[in-house]
Amino acid sequence: MRIQSLILGVIIIITFFFANCANEDTSSKASTDSENLEQIYLTRGREVAQTTFATLSNNLQKAMQEGGVTNAVKYCNLSASPLVDSLENKYQASIRRTSLKTRNPNNQPSQIELNQLQAFQKKMDSGEKLKPVVQKIKGDQVAFYAPIHVMPLCQKCHGTIGETLLEEDYKVIQQLYPKDKAVGYVSGDLRGMWSITFPK
Ligand code: HEC
Repeated sequence: MRIQSLILGVIIIITFFFANCANEDTSSKASTDSENLEQIYLTRGREVAQTTFATLSNNLQKAMQEGGVTNAVKYCNLSASPLVDSLENKYQASIRRTSLKTRNPNNQPSQIELNQLQAFQKKMDSGEKLKPVVQKIKGDQVAFYAPIHVMPLCQKCHGTIGETLLEEDYKVIQQLYPKDKAVGYVSGDLRGMWSITFPK
């Protein structure tokens, strides 16, 4: 009788042990899958953001050299860019930029974007370096958010009025964007973020 219960005990322990092992296996596989997914979308998001930014700032610099701010203003609108269209088609993604202080009201953040912008700003304020993030959003879509910082060139249109941003240039900007809030930035500031949405 004692031997039988001992054997039973051993069987229970072994079963329990293997059941546990199996559990651990599936959960670690699930987390590897979601880590892989995160990596895939981080890579994709970076590619889209970097390509868009490179083209945008190339066009901006050329246009500024040729005809100053007045001439360059039109190159800042992403929805007027054929490159953005072709990237959106390639990835079936939506590409936008948003900010806590927008120039174009169409770029105002959604509630989810606002939360992320505030999180980025909070990290900045505490001296942390910002990194892109990937997040699942409604309808099984994946969103990529990456910070956009101010560089010296940006100040010519987003800087301090009467200093880095010339008053005559600001008149032109205000005519086109009467609801502009995107001024007063200095180099290094958080200007806004990329918000790129991929279907799953
Ligand atoms: C020639 C002027 C000019 C320069 C230089 C410029 N911008 Fe802008 N920026 C604009 C205009 C105009 C818009 C509004 C575009 C639109 O209609 O969507 C804008 C919009 C933006 C937005 C979208 C959010 C919003 O405010 O509507 C971000 C982010 C942004 N700029 C960042 C930058 C950064 C970073 C740089 C420097 C690399 C830069 N800009 C340089 C004129 C400029």
